[in-house]
Amino acid sequence: MELKSASPYRKYLTGLDTEIPLGNGQFTTYINFDNAATTPPLKSVLQAINNFAPWYSSIHRGKGYKSRLSSDFYEESRRIILKFIGGDPAAHNVIYVKNTSEAINKLANRLVQINDQQSLVLSTEMEHHSNDLPWRKNFPVDFIAVNQQGQLCLADLEAKLIKYRGRVKLVVLTGASNVTGYINPIHQAAGLSHQYGAQIMVDGAQLVPHYPVDIKPIDHPEHIDYLVFSAHKMYAPFGSGVLIGPCATFKRGTPDHVGGGTIKVVTTNSVYWADPPQKDEVGTPNIMGVVALVEAIKTLQRLNLKEIAAYEQALTEYAIKQLKNLPGIQIFNDQSNNCSCRNNPEKVSIIPINLRNISHQNLAQLLAERAGIAVRNGCFCAQPYIQKLLNLSASEIKRYLSQPDLVRPGLVRISFGMYNQTSEVDQLINSLEGIIKL
Ligand code: ALA
Repeated sequence: MELKSASPYRKYLTGLDTEIPLGNGQFTTYINFDNAATTPPLKSVLQAINNFAPWYSSIHRGKGYKSRLSSDFYEESRRIILKFIGGDPAAHNVIYVKNTSEAINKLANRLVQINDQQSLVLSTEMEHHSNDLPWRKNFPVDFIAVNQQGQLCLADLEAKLIKYRGRVKLVVLTGASNVTGYINPIHQAAGLSHQYGAQIMVDGAQLVPHYPVDIKPIDHPEHIDYLVFSAHKMYAPFGSGVLIGPCATFKRGTPDHVGGGTIKVVTTNSVYWADPPQKDEVGTPNIMGVVALVEAIKTLQRLNLKEIAAYEQALTEYAIKQLKNLPGIQIFNDQSNNCSCRNNPEKVSIIPINLRNISHQNLAQLLAERAGIAVRNGCFCAQPYIQKLLNLSASEIKRYLSQPDLVRPGLVRISFGMYNQTSEVDQLINSLEGIIKL
């Protein structure tokens, strides 16, 4: 794809021309390269919130016109979400939550109730803590290996499915890493998991905003059983996210949070739970969050996610090409390698780097203070993965625990949204050149 200096998507976002102060007191236009953390709102999302505001009312709690209208929109929205990811309203529930982390906790809390004692979860060494700790809290967990370059070893998934002989009830993996951007072969992993009697859950937080995802019909051998993602990473920052999975799962078990909206009948000595998804949505639903998410989905569909993905990939390649020319730069997702696991996996628009002789935190700070460029640094809530990428030994990790003042190891992460553009990358390169000269 040929890149123009301006992003064709820029006009759809808000807040991109904000002037912010630099370290020297001068002002400059903010450059946001931290989209893997959160994204600015789409103008269409803000417009949808404004349009809905006069009609806003309580969901499922009133006979008034506005309440009925709000409730109808809320229920109908589940179909829009399912259509977006290839789900089936007859087979899947969409449960609204705050974000991906809450969705995963909710699923773990449910599955632990309905699985037998022998059950085990297979996670991977490249997960965000939110797709790791909820499983550790509830199940015995083993981790599918990644190679030294951070790429998932599918062969190790199969080896572990064989090793545990039918005990693996669920395989959980990220659709795309929030550290390296590597896109995992989710359908191949699903096929393997199903072959050995396990279900699969995909953390879509980093994938869904950047790539078309199709969970496939539930009788397809490579279908995705559970998918979770957040609206705030797809240009709709109003506190909503989704947990999608088979209706059968959510029919069983007790909700993790109980109270208003979750029941059919309560007496002083009995409780009959509501049908899913209401059973799992305690309290007054976040209708504005849902309005925002639905509008973001419609906008992304209209703009065409495939084209957005191609644009972001071209921008990422443009940046990597220039970064490689800088002395002392280490790029953590640009190695060709001989591993039998996966060669050159596709990536979402994330570039993890380090610069020789400067800590990740100083580099991030200098970019912010000298050029108004926002990046994230550290371990990105994925410490085991960073430990692997940086080849840290167990004794080194212990040393950081016992000496809290030591600068912790980490990386600087550049992550693009569809509105970022080559002129911004050029400014990043200029700024890095200046920092290197320092
Ligand atoms: N999970 C988000 C990130 O990687 C917050 O930055």
